[in-house]
Amino acid sequence: MYFSFETIQTFVVGFIIIYAILWIKKPRLSKNEPPMVPYKIPIIGQVITIAGNEASYEIFNASDSFDLNEAIKDVLPMRHVLPTINGFGDVQHMAKMIREEITGKLSLYTGRIQEQLLIAINKEIGDCSIGEEISKHEDVINSFANVSKEFSKFLVIPPFLSFIHPKIHQQVVTLPIRLGWNPIRKHINTLKKYLKPVLEKRLIDKEILGDKYKPPLDVIEYYLNEPEYGTTVTVITDDYLNYTCEVLIHLIFISIHSTTRHISSALHDLAGRPELWDDLYEEQVKIDKECNGMLTIVHIDRMVKLDSFMRESLRTFGEVAGLMHRCIEDSYTFKNNTTIPKDRIAYIYFDDSHYNEVYGPEPRSFLPYYGLNNKKPATKINKNYLVFGAGKHACPGRFFVINEIKILMHKLILNYHIKTESGKLDEKKFAGPFVLPLNTGICLLKFTDDNLSIGNGITSNPTLSKFYVKIDKKQGIQNM
Ligand SMILES: *[C@@H]1O[C@H](CO)[C@@H](O)[C@H](O)[C@H]1NC(C)=O
Ligand SMILES: *[C@@H]1O[C@H](CO)[C@@H](O)[C@H](O)[C@H]1NC(C)=O
Ligand SMILES: *[C@@H]1O[C@H](CO)[C@@H](O)[C@H](O)[C@H]1NC(C)=O
Ligand SMILES: *[C@@H]1O[C@H](CO)[C@@H](O)[C@H](O)[C@H]1NC(C)=O
Ligand SMILES: *[C@@H]1O[C@H](CO)[C@@H](O)[C@H](O)[C@H]1NC(C)=O
Ligand SMILES: *[C@@H]1O[C@H](CO)[C@@H](O)[C@H](O)[C@H]1NC(C)=O
Repeated sequence: MYFSFETIQTFVVGFIIIYAILWIKKPRLSKNEPPMVPYKIPIIGQVITIAGNEASYEIFNASDSFDLNEAIKDVLPMRHVLPTINGFGDVQHMAKMIREEITGKLSLYTGRIQEQLLIAINKEIGDCSIGEEISKHEDVINSFANVSKEFSKFLVIPPFLSFIHPKIHQQVVTLPIRLGWNPIRKHINTLKKYLKPVLEKRLIDKEILGDKYKPPLDVIEYYLNEPEYGTTVTVITDDYLNYTCEVLIHLIFISIHSTTRHISSALHDLAGRPELWDDLYEEQVKIDKECNGMLTIVHIDRMVKLDSFMRESLRTFGEVAGLMHRCIEDSYTFKNNTTIPKDRIAYIYFDDSHYNEVYGPEPRSFLPYYGLNNKKPATKINKNYLVFGAGKHACPGRFFVINEIKILMHKLILNYHIKTESGKLDEKKFAGPFVLPLNTGICLLKFTDDNLSIGNGITSNPTLSKFYVKIDKKQGIQNM
């Protein structure tokens, strides 16, 4: 691209003007707003409201007044990235699909989750005692893994222009896309390439088999039979492929990144706490015997200690504040009588809820059996456990993801001795209110006679933690 001297000059002058506005334009609060935190450096960006424990719950509950996606729009130009589905346009429909297709059929998916996880463990770590061949479509898996990383490219520009108006930031971030740059496009094209023949075959099978057609259990089949999206699909058009693939990318975006981060965090939580190993190991051995290595939903429900451990890992994940919502009504008055104006971004102050006094005198300590002793499963939301949000728009995928993580942890605990490379609990670091993934190593030591040493790391997502895998000559957990 070519910039003339005049253009550059305009930019420079523009910046000076913006800087001047910045000094002059002090944020003004209207009556009854929560107080401003004292500050010295002029505010670059916008005023945000941090909602404490009670108010957080109100924000989730008042779904007519607050919207998560409206807040995300400021930083992620989804409308331009996924044009066919208008960004995250139909979140309600996505939630409905997840409730009906995924949560509703969870027991049917369990066998497949287990199979796929074992394949992945075998490939990335090795020796998990099954011999299935690895998925043929490596580049589809790569695309799934890389999409979240690509999205993060949009987040590198902090919304520093939002103080004038959030729309200005949106204009700036979307400029490259409007000029033709779309890092997600190549992944959509990969999916399109693989999906086209699959969908076409399904249509042919349907026509030939009629009532005998056995619909495959998956999300694309759900969308293929979705009366809400026009008549039942009869031809796989480019437009339809665009639509399905964008839906899949949306699904990947809302699921994979958060799942991998929490798995990596749970592994660190386990690896750094030797006092938990025996107890969790015993439970997994018992269940493994009961199910003969083939887990069903009933067996997963019996992993009560592992479930309680997971709840605690999620509670103490460390995000200080997050899940920002935009106030979409003219103004909103909290129960404590403070008011915030339209368009204000409110962050959920997780620390206030997750380290609440209900967790006892030391709420920041890791309480592995809190959930078990208080009959609070990892999927059950309450005022002091907001990892999945709350209210009408609480994460509908939480049943699937907790199941998936429990299956994975179960298999890993059974097959490996898991410890941190440093031998202690590694400390998390932060970027603003957000917790950063740990980049310290985790050793997965195989219970085996061979002392082979493998150097490859397992990474669920290239942007996340790296694990080192070592295989050692050790007989069993008692000997470690
Ligand atoms: C009311 O709640 C808001 C949101 O949590 C908080 O910022 C504010 O400080 C509270 N006001 C009072 C007077 O407690
Ligand atoms: C949630 O919202 C409903 C209706 O909007 C209201 O009646 C209820 O009191 C709210 N609950 C909480 C805990 O704020
Ligand atoms: C995706 O990630 C894999 C593994 O990190 C890498 O080899 C591959 O080049 C990436 N693919 C794309 C399309 O970015
Ligand atoms: C599908 O998406 C591609 C890439 O955005 C676009 O070039 C193409 O025109 C779309 N197809 C239809 C039928 O809209
Ligand atoms: C909020 O205002 C109402 C009406 O003015 C009052 O009755 C109530 O006690 C106030 N609540 C709090 C928490 O200050
Ligand atoms: C295993 O370790 C022992 C002692 O460290 C060594 O002598 C032996 O060669 C190793 N075996 C293999 C297969 O690497």
